[in-house]
Amino acid sequence: MSTAHISGLTEAEAAGIQVFEKPAAGSWTQALGMSTGPVSFKDSYDENFYQDEKEAVFRRNWLNIAHVNELPRNGSYLVKELKFLNVSVLVIRGMDGEIRAFHNLCSHRGNKLMWDSDPGKESRGVCRQIACKYHGWRFDLEGEISYVHNAPEFFDLEAEKLKLPAIHCEVWAGYNFINLLPEPLQTLRDFLGPDVVKLETYPFEKMPRLYTFESEIDANWKLFMDAFAELYHIPYVHGKVTNNALPQTGVDKIPFMVPFFGAFGKHRLLTSAGRKGNLNVRARKALDALFQANFIGTDHVPDVGSLGTGINPGGIDPWGVDSWQMYPNWVFIAWGSNYWYTYRYWPISATRHKFEWTVSFTEPATIRERLAQEHALVMMREGVLQDANTLQATQQGLMSGARDDFYICDQEVAIRHLHEVVQADVAAYRAEKGR
Ligand code: FES
Ligand SMILES: [Fe+2]
Repeated sequence: MSTAHISGLTEAEAAGIQVFEKPAAGSWTQALGMSTGPVSFKDSYDENFYQDEKEAVFRRNWLNIAHVNELPRNGSYLVKELKFLNVSVLVIRGMDGEIRAFHNLCSHRGNKLMWDSDPGKESRGVCRQIACKYHGWRFDLEGEISYVHNAPEFFDLEAEKLKLPAIHCEVWAGYNFINLLPEPLQTLRDFLGPDVVKLETYPFEKMPRLYTFESEIDANWKLFMDAFAELYHIPYVHGKVTNNALPQTGVDKIPFMVPFFGAFGKHRLLTSAGRKGNLNVRARKALDALFQANFIGTDHVPDVGSLGTGINPGGIDPWGVDSWQMYPNWVFIAWGSNYWYTYRYWPISATRHKFEWTVSFTEPATIRERLAQEHALVMMREGVLQDANTLQATQQGLMSGARDDFYICDQEVAIRHLHEVVQADVAAYRAEKGR
């Protein structure tokens, strides 16, 4: 996969807004080494494809699973239910401060170890040992057996053989990633690649105030990633929050153009311009003015120092938003108002997924800043709900199977990239299995 750095940014005087032109050197799609033909979205509803995708994509690549701040103390743990893979992951910080991941099942008769009132639900907390609710076996925080009830009744027990089955777990930029292969194909850093790895210099620690949202959506996981991978939809899906006075027709007059795309191996980036992400916001609502915030952040931009060496590799000026879609299902979005988002997309079935969204702000220095953050969150949620609004309809349309050749434009190149990469992974897996 090639990497292209083409800046198509120009600034137009008209209406005092930024207008972007297509890159003079050609299309993004061609520059990033992709075909320009129609795209198949059968990968977003076909049951056979989904069965192979689970193995080829989710069981073989590194998966972003948690943030170290969610495991603040020795003994802090959380359980991630990856039901689509029949895997329950126990992520736990040991007495040595290391974070490890284990399959969440007891070595005695396979009972799920950590769960609260419902074994199907994810749980979290702090413990001093991992105790099984069935016959009382216990394990230490490093996964070693520490107690067997009535041990003399057993035959040939060996502590070494009773350890909890480990899952590869590594930390990058404060995030915990797991890999479900017995031996990962690449280290996490090699998997991320040199351009993504540079994002570890982003000042994550300056923005510790975390908000989380989650929802289940009747659409394939890739369709929601696609919904955030272009600005082409903005005048229509977000028409109520955009500026009606802006020119809406003519290729070079559409204000919602992405001025930079990057493809970095299996990962991809869209950069938007301007602190407001080039979303020329319509006359502010009265509450936005009162709270000094809107759906793209707070008016006040907190000082977080340098944004590091990874952000804005395309050199867009003025820079607005970097949206890094990390393969397969994690997105990191750094906003010009100095906060960041993450999205995670977990398949539930071929046509349904769980969406996890986090927003991280600086600690507010004043009550006004706190209120601005709260108002921004409410408005952001409205924006994301708008983005989710078309998903069920798209899913239902695709599932008719009435056509499978979809013409997508150069501004939708990130969508083409995601589907190409997923389809290539599945094709390689099928070839390996002789199918
Ligand atoms: S299944 Fe855990 S102690 Fe028996
Ligand atoms: Fe949107």
